[in-house]
Amino acid sequence: MTDVRWREVDRYFTDLLVRPDPALDAARDVSAAAGLPSIEVTANQGKLLQLLAQIQGARAILELGTLGGYSTIWLARALPSGGRLITLELDPRYAEVARSNVAQAGLADLVEIRVGPALDTLPRLAAEGAGPFDLIFIDADKASYPEYLAWALELSRPGTLIIADNVVRDGAVLDASSEDPSVQGARRFTELLAAEPRVTSTAIQTVGSKGYDGFALALVTADT
Ligand code: SAH
Ligand code: DHB
Ligand code: MG
Repeated sequence: MTDVRWREVDRYFTDLLVRPDPALDAARDVSAAAGLPSIEVTANQGKLLQLLAQIQGARAILELGTLGGYSTIWLARALPSGGRLITLELDPRYAEVARSNVAQAGLADLVEIRVGPALDTLPRLAAEGAGPFDLIFIDADKASYPEYLAWALELSRPGTLIIADNVVRDGAVLDASSEDPSVQGARRFTELLAAEPRVTSTAIQTVGSKGYDGFALALVTADT
């Protein structure tokens, strides 16, 4: 199996199952043209996030790591009217691109982008009483995933679904002695999930046009 085959199968599924959405295509194209890294979720992964939000009946969603707003738009499209999504982004330039993409998708009223390091914004959200969220998507800097899990739990209720992207990194997650902070962050995150009595969780490997990686999913089962 090769990356070429993975890419072709992603295209096969996406062409069949993912209805074209000009605003999503534009968000990806505009972000790339503005020089943002092309590290957004794939279309069929975005649709998975959207399905999970719908299954969850999510009315309040929190996202860590906005980039150009591609996954933001997928998730926000799952919200009922009156729903809301707060997304956290470090880079003001990325946030500006995302703001425009979200507005072009007609979602400006549902989506709030907060600029700054998520570890600064998260305590503010908690202090404001912004939670609990029904779904939390963790996709910012991987080194901070352990801290992000603690904040996600703080902003959860029993029934909240926590999803984390990039927990496999080409299998590098197996390397206990890795000096890559992203790998160590993903490893520690998964160990914390394993030790956390308030969640039931799993992780799956994925291949596709973004290569070989994976998602962790955790359902909060007890008061946080
Ligand atoms: N969720 C996006 C991709 C996010 S890429 C999508 O799938 O479409 C990761 C993002 O996290 C980048 O935009 C990066 O700038 C942002 N990021 C990195 N460190 C951060 C931090 N400390 N706080 C908030 N965002 C951060
Ligand atoms: C990369 C991929 C991601 O999904 C992400 O959130 C951050 C970085 C990457 O491939 O470098
Ligand atoms: Mg990611």
